[in-house]
Amino acid sequence: MADLASAIWRLPSLPRVLPWPKSYAVLGFPIAHSFSPAIHRAAFAAIGWPGGYGRIEVDIGGLGSVIDRLKTIGFSGWNCTAPLKQEMLRLCDRRATTALRLGSVNTVRHENGVLEGHNTDGRGWVLAVEEDFSVSLSDLRILFLGLGGAGAALARQASWEGCPLLHLANRTASKALSLAREIESRSRVKLIPWEEAALLQAASNADLLVSSLAEDPPLLRNSGFLDRLLRPGLFVLDLRYWPPEPPLLEAARQRGARTANGLGMLLHQASLAFELWTCAPAPLSVMREALATALSARRGEKHAR
Ligand SMILES: NC(=O)c1ccc[n+]([C@@H]2O[C@H](COP(=O)([O-])OP(=O)(O)OC[C@H]3O[C@@H](n4cnc5c(N)ncnc54)[C@H](OP(=O)(O)O)[C@@H]3O)[C@@H](O)[C@H]2O)c1
Repeated sequence: MADLASAIWRLPSLPRVLPWPKSYAVLGFPIAHSFSPAIHRAAFAAIGWPGGYGRIEVDIGGLGSVIDRLKTIGFSGWNCTAPLKQEMLRLCDRRATTALRLGSVNTVRHENGVLEGHNTDGRGWVLAVEEDFSVSLSDLRILFLGLGGAGAALARQASWEGCPLLHLANRTASKALSLAREIESRSRVKLIPWEEAALLQAASNADLLVSSLAEDPPLLRNSGFLDRLLRPGLFVLDLRYWPPEPPLLEAARQRGARTANGLGMLLHQASLAFELWTCAPAPLSVMREALATALSARRGEKHAR
């Protein structure tokens, strides 16, 4: 089992027989960084579920072949991360409302050849925001910085939560425009040009700033701009969790804002996936501890280099 636990499978090295009585995995590209195996293995052990959880590195082009193999040998379910979530929606036989609303699938249940797609990211994000900031998400005016796969999914979720105002800002304006058209019937939406004055104006009218930027552009490294963007009382969430305090959060904390990274969302989307698979309440404190342990181990590895 130790080998299975540390392996990264690719299509040629995928098991040909079921590795555990109930088998699960996380699929993505790249995948070595994922904390999902640590969280789910701890949770399975805590409730005595006969489950194991591996990791599979696969890109969009290879996803169909990997899925065929997982179906053939009888995996019970899997998680998908970037860049696979939209393609996984297409490959499912049934799509839960959560998946249809967000336009993507991060959790699959497999039974007798039928793939049922769900998305626990949206609700996981809501639970994380409410836990991290002790607020009700539906009361918040939100500025989304970045509308790639993750940012767009969360803006869709916010539009279903009844938030009073959503500011949509993305470097590539066409993505913000098409998303605004999609959700404006459910929410009050403002399109924000990707330039200094417009971003400052939007931030001054927001309670929560959500960054899902893959990297910080020069503007977000400019301390004069950050002095005007960030303020005491503003909630700032950066979906990244490595390093645990990304530069935007450090800047926000130094300016008196309340901050959170993406670990809460990672934890809560995992707990909801676990409940879909096992139909048992997730042992949240065990999962939280497993995540903290995995994070400390990664910190140790980085320092040892
Ligand atoms: N905590 C969690 O559970 C969780 C879940 C999902 C994702 N995430 C994290 O969220 C982040 C985004 O993931 P994703 O899947 O949404 O990625 P993605 O689809 O590649 O989107 C990346 C976003 O970053 C923007 N961007 C990248 N470089 C930029 C630059 N130099 N200037 C301005 N904008 C820039 C992109 O803008 P354009 O559209 O203009 O390219 C896009 O909005 C990743 O760090 C990921 O690890 C965390």
